[in-house]
Parts: sequence; structure tokens; C-alpha cells
Amino acid sequence: MKRPGYVITATLTTLTLLLCLCSVRGDFCEVNVCLNGGTCVTGIGEDPFICICDDGFAGDTCNLTETGPCSPNPCKNDGSCDIITPTRRGDVFNEYVCKCQPGFEGAHCQINVNDCANQPCKNGGKCRDLDGDYTCQCPSPYVGKQCQLRCTSLLGMEGGSIVESQISASSVHYGIMGLQRWGPDLARLNNQGIVNAWTSAAHDRNPWIEIDMQKKMRLTGIITQGASRMGTSEYIKAFKVASSFDGNLYITHRADGQRRDKVFIGNADNDSTKTNLFDPPIVAQYIRIIPVVCRRACTLRMELVGCELNVHSNTVGCSEPLGMKSRLISDGQLTASSSYRTWGIDTFTWHPQFARLDKQGKTNAWSPAHNNRSEWIQVDLEKTSRLTGIITQGAKDFGVVQFVSMFKVAYSNDGEFWSTVKEEKTDSDKLFQGNIDNNTHKKNLFEPPFYARYVRVVPWEWHERITLRVELLGCDD
Ligand SMILES: *[C@@H]1O[C@H](CO)[C@@H](O)[C@H](O)[C@H]1NC(C)=O
Ligand SMILES: *[C@@H]1O[C@H](CO)[C@@H](O)[C@H](O)[C@H]1NC(C)=O
Ligand SMILES: *[C@@H]1O[C@H](CO)[C@@H](O)[C@H](O)[C@H]1NC(C)=O
Ligand SMILES: *[C@@H]1O[C@H](CO)[C@@H](O)[C@H](O)[C@H]1NC(C)=O
Repeated sequence: MKRPGYVITATLTTLTLLLCLCSVRGDFCEVNVCLNGGTCVTGIGEDPFICICDDGFAGDTCNLTETGPCSPNPCKNDGSCDIITPTRRGDVFNEYVCKCQPGFEGAHCQINVNDCANQPCKNGGKCRDLDGDYTCQCPSPYVGKQCQLRCTSLLGMEGGSIVESQISASSVHYGIMGLQRWGPDLARLNNQGIVNAWTSAAHDRNPWIEIDMQKKMRLTGIITQGASRMGTSEYIKAFKVASSFDGNLYITHRADGQRRDKVFIGNADNDSTKTNLFDPPIVAQYIRIIPVVCRRACTLRMELVGCELNVHSNTVGCSEPLGMKSRLISDGQLTASSSYRTWGIDTFTWHPQFARLDKQGKTNAWSPAHNNRSEWIQVDLEKTSRLTGIITQGAKDFGVVQFVSMFKVAYSNDGEFWSTVKEEKTDSDKLFQGNIDNNTHKKNLFEPPFYARYVRVVPWEWHERITLRVELLGCDD
């Protein structure tokens, strides 16, 4: 038998899977000649069958033990093994060194460094250890990488920096034969006078009041207050909050991990203020208060609490890796149009969950089932983020160098309506230059940056097969 030009190994799961396949086919693999847990497959190239050897074995029938200190790879956690001239370290001769991925250490990269160990999160933030990084989940109104900043500016309803033209409402109540106008521009905290608040029209079944911040802001809370009209208290007892980037698509606020709209408890009399925090904070340009239960009428005075975006990093500084490599972006957040399976074998599926920058292993990238321009890989960032760039990388499939040399980027806020990143001058879809080999990082910047929850990479040109490892750059805002 001709010796295959490459060494193939497989895991035990493949073995079990394929044994059944082979015996059903009744072919050269009917009697498994592959030793040491090797898997027999047929129909590949000119050989009647080949053996996919388990880790640590090689040769036509997997009867050879892989040799060399780096084979099989003694380094754990995607560490790479380098053979070196034998050197003495203490009493031990070393023939190899493990180069560990960030966040791992030890001679064999076996120790996952706990990046939360020295408690980097301030103000009650919850720390989560990532590969080579950590993330803090900050309780409102704290923000920043370490929850070190308070996002609690009063945004200008009471102070007046939010002007009349920025405030609108579904309807307005006119009192005393139409002479009193309880307009939205009156909905300012502690507003005084006889007519001193916004009230929706009595017939309005779906009332709302909206503030246009004129740019994207981070909102961490709202202070509400009722009013009294003709000697009676009127106020909003319960309300929801919706927000929008563009004034078209609105998303109703939900608490972290909740599937139902958050209902905020509002006021209980005509004059006291009630403060509610948004947890997580809302990033938006338009914010809409939607009364759910009103006492007598939906009457409101209010203030918004929040801060400018990017308080913790200037605009140039917004280029942190968003978590493909560190796994802050979890497997569940990654999807794709399809996935390729080398030789149709499940164990060698090039899942979108493998598309993490610098991932190691035999199948260590995403690759789609077909090679055409309909394929895509998608990241759901789970909250609207500011995206400033992307790093792409190819990979090898059993020795074959594969990469994407040209791609487009699309983004969406709801996962349904997509925009493609455009050339600034010509308004045609922007084609990003991709990779030229199996390993080099290629970085592209988004100029200008964009805000999105969902990002898609659409391969446009490729070498051999569409194959991608990716990191997204940006910041939380
Ligand atoms: C492995 O098997 C081949 C034939 O399949 C044989 O020629 C070779 O000597 C064997 N090697 C060892 C180390 O057993
Ligand atoms: C409204 O609030 C003020 C101050 O708390 C209180 O003195 C007044 O009685 C209230 N008016 C009504 C109608 O409840
Ligand atoms: C890509 O390939 C799939 C499967 O063959 C096919 O359904 C799809 O129409 C193709 N798209 C393009 C743009 O060729
Ligand atoms: C793939 O990338 C590695 C690491 O950069 C490099 O050493 C190797 O030569 C590349 N393989 C091929 C076939 O180009």
C-alpha cells in the first residue's frame, strides 16, 4: 500500500463513529487493520483505505509511535511546542519548550492563570476569568473595565441642556377648554407652576414620551416625579423603557438575563422623586418612557442619568479585543451559514465556534460547507458594541494552507436587517484585504467605526477553502 504523504490522527470518538460506518459499507475497512485505536476510512485519493491514527501514533496502520519530543504535543491549552538543542535546567534535560497562550503558564502551559486573583473589579463588580484576560460585570451606575467610574451625570431635563425640540410625545393633554397645554417640554424634574408636567391625552391608549439625546449616550438611570392638577395627584405608577439608535427600531429594556420587558415601579404621589437604575445601562440616542399604569392620568416630570460614551478610553483607545480569543464571546454567540467536515467526518467539523484567533489543534478554524459568496460567520455580541476593527487569520487542514484573502463585513442590531460596511467615498461595499498565508494576523480598521450587536464576516475571495480565525476590536460602548 502507498504511504499517505501526511500523518493523520484522530480521537476515539471518531473511531467509534467510523467503525459502524465501515462495517456497514462492507469494504476494505470491514476488517479494521488500523492499530492502536486508528480509524479506517475508504474512498480518499488512490489508496483503497487509509488509517486516521489516534493521538501519538503514526504510520500506514498506526503501528508507529510518533517520535520527537513535540510529537505528540506535550503542551496543553493550545500551547505550541518548539524543539530546542538539549539544555540543562537544574537536574533536568529539556528537549523542547512550550510557548503558552496568554493566560496560561507552567512548563506545559497546564496552569490557567486566574486573572481575577487580585480582584481587579471595583465597586461590587463581578469578575470573570478569561483566557489571558478578565471581565468585570459592573452594577449600575458603575462602568469601565474595572467598574471604577460612576456614570451619574444629570443629563439636562431639569437643568435645561435638553431643549424643547429634543422632547416629543405620543399625545398631549389640553386642560381647561384647551387653554392649558401639558406638553412634553414641561416634563422636567421639579418643574413648578400650575401647568408643570407632561400629561398624555385621555384617549391615548399607548402613550409615550421620548428624548432625543442627539448622539449616542450611556444611560444608567431615570428619576421620575408626578404632578398635581386641579388639586389632585397624577402620576405614573409603572412604566417600561425603550431605546433606539436611529429613531426607527426600538428595543424595550430587559434586565440582564431576563426574557421579559422590565417594568419599573414609578411614583406614588404628586411630588416625591423615584430613582430607577438601568442594569445593564442603556446605550442609545433615543430613549422612550412608556407608561404602563397611571394614576388618573399619565403625568410625568423626569430627569435622565448617564454619561458620555468612552469615558474610560479616548476614541483612539477603543480597540480592545472583544473576546474571540479570550472566550468572553462564548461558543453560543458564534454561528455560521454552514460548516465543513473534512472527509465528511463529524470529528473534523470546522465549527464557527473554532473561529477564534490563534486557536490551535487539527480543526482550529471555521470553514463553511461550500466555497461561495453566500457563506458567512456571525458573532452576536449580546449587547450593542462599538466596533473599530477586525483581525483575521487562516489555518491549515491536514497540511493544506487555506485562508480568506478578501471579505466583506455586515452588521445588524436585530439580526434581521443588515448593513454592509461601505467605502466612505464611493458608497460601494467595502472589500477588506484578508490573509496571505495560514498563520499571519491581518488587521483591518473600520473607518468610521460602527455600532452593532451582530457582526458578520462574508468571505469574498479565498485560497483553497474558506477558512477563518477572527478577533473583533472595539469597546463596550
Ligand atoms: C508497521 O507496519 C508496516 C506494514 O504495515 C511494517 O512494514 C512495519 O515494519 C511496522 N512497523 C513496526 C514498528 O511495527
Ligand atoms: C402634593 O405634594 C405636596 C408636597 O408633598 C403636598 O403638600 C400636597 O398635599 C400634594 N397634593 C396633592 C393633591 O396630593
Ligand atoms: C452557494 O452554494 C450553495 C450550495 O451549493 C447554493 O445553494 C448557493 O446558491 C450558492 N450561492 C452562490 C452565490 O453561488
Ligand atoms: C504555516 O504557518 C506557520 C507559522 O507561521 C509556518 O511556520 C508554516 O511554514 C506555514 N505553513 C505553510 C505550509 O506555509
